Amino acid sequence: MYIGEKVRLREYRKEDIPLRLSFINDPELQKYLVADTPYPMTLREEEKWFESISALGDTYKFAIETLGDKKFIGGCSINDVDWKNSVATVGIFIGDKDYWGNGYGTDAMKTLVSFIFSQMNINKIRLTCYSFNGRAIKSYEKCGFKIEGVLRQEMFKDGRYHDKIAMGILREEFLEGKY
Ligand SMILES: CC(C)(COP(=O)(O)OP(=O)(O)OC[C@H]1O[C@@H](n2cnc3c(N)ncnc32)[C@H](O)[C@@H]1OP(=O)(O)O)[C@@H](O)C(=O)NCCC(=O)NCCS
Repeated sequence: MYIGEKVRLREYRKEDIPLRLSFINDPELQKYLVADTPYPMTLREEEKWFESISALGDTYKFAIETLGDKKFIGGCSINDVDWKNSVATVGIFIGDKDYWGNGYGTDAMKTLVSFIFSQMNINKIRLTCYSFNGRAIKSYEKCGFKIEGVLRQEMFKDGRYHDKIAMGILREEFLEGKY
């Protein structure tokens, strides 16, 4: 259930910390991930983040590893679960830029979506991304997400305001394979 066609979703390991820190602190990645003022994370903060990972609670974090050479290339997560309304919020990053645009992110997100709908009693998965992130929007559409709305000028970056795009996929769409 955690295995796609190109990647597997596995637990984070202590040895992932240095590489994950370099991914997270890459300004090009921060452009797509960080809504706050971009600022480098310290090793100590990264270690604390790692120690905070727990199976308890409603966040689930997975490392993304290639199937072939078992390379740690990024991460994806369920960041929040609204059990009352049955909605999970997810996020993803491929940190190793050599792997961008080669289907790894789409495969990881498909695996995460499949995990959620098959293992959790969830009706809808949602996410947001920035309007200038065409690659992410396309990738999410390939996973079955639909654009549900545009949150106008919700983010200030590089001297101007940008829109946020809200996307979602319903359980019935996933089960019927309507995408
Ligand atoms: C977003 C991300 C997860 C997508 O994963 P990926 O492995 O790079 O994407 P994929 O190769 O699976 O799919 C990308 C698709 O977008 C297309 N694409 C690339 N750049 C594009 C652009 N500017 N506009 C529209 N489509 C674009 C690609 O052609 C590909 O479609 P295709 O397979 O039909 O040719 C990954 O690029 C990433 O982590 N980026 C940096 C962090 C980030 O943006 N995270 C998401 C925050 S919301």
